[in-house]
Amino acid sequence: MNDGVIHPVPETWAKEALIDAGTYAEKYRRSVQDPEGFWREEARRLDWLKPFTTVKNTSFDEATFGIRWFEDGTLNLTANCLDRHLAARGDQTAIIWEPDDPATPVRTLTYRQLHEATCRFANLLRAEGVRKGDRVTIYLPMVPEAAVAMLACARIGAIHSIVFAGFSPEALGSRIEDCDSDVVITADEGLRGGKRVPLKANVDAALEHHGKVRRVIMLRHTGADVPMIEGRDLDWATAVASQSTDCPAEEMGAEDPLFILYTSGSTGKPKGVLHTTGGYAVWVGMTHEYTFDYRPHPDSTPQVYWCAADIGWVTGHSYVVYGPLLNGAISVMFEGVPNYPDFSRFWQVVDKHKVEIFYAAPTALRALMREGDDWVKKTSRSTLRLLGSVGEPINPEAWEWYYNVVGDARCPIVDTWWQTETGGHMITPLPGATDLKPGSASKPMFGVQPAILDSEGKELHGACEGALVISDSWPGQMRTVYGDHARFFQTYFSTFPGHYFTGDGCRRDEDGYYWITGRIDDVINVSGHRMGTAEIESALVLHERVAEAAVVGMPHDIKGQGIYAYVTTTSGTEDSDDLRKELIQWVRREIGPIATPDVLQFAPSLPKTRSGKIMRRILRKIAENDTGNLGDTSTLADPGVVDDLLANRPKT
Ligand code: WT7
Repeated sequence: MNDGVIHPVPETWAKEALIDAGTYAEKYRRSVQDPEGFWREEARRLDWLKPFTTVKNTSFDEATFGIRWFEDGTLNLTANCLDRHLAARGDQTAIIWEPDDPATPVRTLTYRQLHEATCRFANLLRAEGVRKGDRVTIYLPMVPEAAVAMLACARIGAIHSIVFAGFSPEALGSRIEDCDSDVVITADEGLRGGKRVPLKANVDAALEHHGKVRRVIMLRHTGADVPMIEGRDLDWATAVASQSTDCPAEEMGAEDPLFILYTSGSTGKPKGVLHTTGGYAVWVGMTHEYTFDYRPHPDSTPQVYWCAADIGWVTGHSYVVYGPLLNGAISVMFEGVPNYPDFSRFWQVVDKHKVEIFYAAPTALRALMREGDDWVKKTSRSTLRLLGSVGEPINPEAWEWYYNVVGDARCPIVDTWWQTETGGHMITPLPGATDLKPGSASKPMFGVQPAILDSEGKELHGACEGALVISDSWPGQMRTVYGDHARFFQTYFSTFPGHYFTGDGCRRDEDGYYWITGRIDDVINVSGHRMGTAEIESALVLHERVAEAAVVGMPHDIKGQGIYAYVTTTSGTEDSDDLRKELIQWVRREIGPIATPDVLQFAPSLPKTRSGKIMRRILRKIAENDTGNLGDTSTLADPGVVDDLLANRPKT
């Protein structure tokens, strides 16, 4: 079973790339047989203040559980992203900012300018009493100041927690509270596809009910007239004006926290995924270099690299900011959306900035594919040499369109599988080494030991399908759930003792290629964004008319998965279309637009076992419209419930 199409490594790539097939095999072998030696060498990509002596001190077992890399070394990440580039490439562009509206002027920041802006802002944070280990919440649009704010935190050892600027005040507030952060950095408004997003107003609303925030630093971006609260709010530009551009970098232990990023799980509220400094930096620097074959041209000019993700997600952390800057790259930062002003926008930006490496999510590609090839074909894209995909499985049809139409059958595609928890790429082709199979994330990155287990936890060999686990630690692994180490162990290491459980299902073919089949827990992936079904259910039951709710994923042509909600209303409530609309808006307001249910079905009762557990398997089948094969319903307390759900499925 070879799953049809194979695109072999193009000859020039095999010849010129950093890693060819032979090098991959040899380096991979070394990375798992001699991790100490392998990582000792890889860690040389960083400037350490105090060199580490221990490389790896990790255990996935309950009695000895702990994950530590390079633990006695010290460094500062911004010294590695900025200072050390100044001598050789201080005047080289670090960030090209492409605004939402193509008529707005582009901004570029050189490494020297980014260094200065970071130092000024870091000094401001210090002056405001922010110290090593303090948590700072960042709620900013895609503007260069977002990178500046992140780097400034890392400069002084503060832990940043970025909240995606599309999240609601409620979601923002609970994240501020969870990590106990007392400083928030925001902007007056964001801009996306010509629409204004009221960021400062959202912060004000969040802080009414949540947390103990003493300082809000606000960037003026659109210039909207927003109220400022005396004694709490500071204007970014005014406040940094008096700060020095010289800011000594805090000496950080390799295992000192770098950032927290909230992500959804199968149960409970979102978890604060915590990444630390040294291992994360080695991981994102290495994967950005190898996966994207990122290196200067032979004449030593840098390549233009564009990752279209938002800094609100881990992809933005690792592959818009930290990875590229570690490698001295030119990183394009895009404020806008793929369909504004029209469907050519991505490709016009590629032409405008002569982008060579382009990295985006399948959901955007599927949406553009639907609009036809002309939007692509009327642009040149001649500078492109490599394409990347991230966030969800890419269906072979979208893969081929990306390859043939966007890349003119010239550019390899790296389909990178990874997670917020993994810090960076885990399973991915390397463009000079891996023959491509559309839809497969292909082979493990150096140091990654994937295994496939059956439901009893027995490891399967050869071609097989089951649960994807990782059998040993890698430097970019998350270290804990902020404030809840027990939850960290419980969530990831208790299902299959001794292994990190990814939550994904996976097939391995005869050539050892991995094919991610999607989540096998109660997490759904909507347009490459992770949503916990429990989170949406909690939002629904907060409504006074909702007694109970169950949420599952459903197939969706563009989003990959859509959200299907079953709702039981309180007795005496009339299940009207108006109430349906109200509940859909309710979730949107509670969490944010990405959580908007696609379908909401009123269910007088939900299918439950005699012990009261909701049988989600049946709800999923109904949502998928796969009703011929509901499986065994005999354990249901009331099998009649299913007929009722089937009869009342809303038309979609
Ligand atoms: C989940 C992680 C990866 C950073 C952005 C999303 C799915 C991610 C792929 C891929 C198939 C993928 C998985 C994973 N996923 N990349 N290339 N092929 N599935 O990070 O929000 O933490 O979500 O996204 O299901 O578990 P995240």
